[in-house]
Amino acid sequence: MAETAFFLSDYLGQQEFEGHISSEGCRAILSLASASVKIAALSRQNGLGEHLGAVLGGENADGDEQKALDVAADELIEEALRTASVAAYLSEEREGAVMLSDKGTLLVACDPLDGSSNIDTNLTVGTIFSLLPFDGSTLLMPGDMQIASGFFAYGPQTTLLLTVGNGVEAFCLDGTGDYRRMDWQVAIPRTTSEFAINASNSRHWQTAVSDYISDLLAGKTGPRGKNFNMRWAGSLVADAFRIFRRGGIFLYPSDQRDGYEQGRLRLVYEAHPIAFLVEQAGGVAYDGQIRILEITPDELHQRVPLIFGSSDEVDLLCKGA
Ligand code: F6P
Repeated sequence: MAETAFFLSDYLGQQEFEGHISSEGCRAILSLASASVKIAALSRQNGLGEHLGAVLGGENADGDEQKALDVAADELIEEALRTASVAAYLSEEREGAVMLSDKGTLLVACDPLDGSSNIDTNLTVGTIFSLLPFDGSTLLMPGDMQIASGFFAYGPQTTLLLTVGNGVEAFCLDGTGDYRRMDWQVAIPRTTSEFAINASNSRHWQTAVSDYISDLLAGKTGPRGKNFNMRWAGSLVADAFRIFRRGGIFLYPSDQRDGYEQGRLRLVYEAHPIAFLVEQAGGVAYDGQIRILEITPDELHQRVPLIFGSSDEVDLLCKGA
């Protein structure tokens, strides 16, 4: 068993040696991993003394309620990144960048605690991250500039899906506090018969989305000629993990509700990092028309419609393929 173990630090060392990532990038990812171990441990203790799903009364920069675990995760990540000499930390929980090291050449963008409405329901939550180059000028870059991205999912297993631009690897936190590579070739199947969307918003959808979903719901006797299953975890990390594991299409489209003209998810903190992983695993990610990784944000907290997953389905909806 021991000789087959391949830990996150070994993997990063190998990727650095092959020129896929710098030593600064490796240090940043290892720092995020150390923060994630603490966040996972904290979330397991929810309700035992501390109520981590408690609403603190404030709102984050996106206008979402802040829960105790959102704030704790954000602080743990900042603390960990201070030891990694990255230039700046961009957090979904904060208005602007936290400048860290004058000598740093990397930005780390994070959604510290994705899916926080699930904290008290014992369902999977996670931390999403993106590494970008920083030359002292702009913080706003297209997703294609990412050096690495990934997410930790705190569920029955604590896992990490990671890309440094050389495919996607899956790691699982073992009993000794190390991330160990999983025996799993991460690749999103091209075809699928599973979709994920919050169907309670169907009356607000645009026609293209309504027509597409009604074709799926029509099943075997409908235009698609097969039955589709639906899943919606309400945590992007949980829905994404499932799609990396067995395929599927995820949709958080724009809709006609006030404030949802650009969907709900954030470009820098959620869509860019997930799209980088998705493409590296053979899937595709669009905002409906444009490839997510080609979009340059106008501001850090910009929202974007997000449709990703198995290419046959995403292409059918977004490119009319
Ligand atoms: O980050 C926001 C988030 O919690 C995602 O994790 C999730 O996919 C989505 O919102 C769920 O939104 P809704 O509650 O509208 O279904």
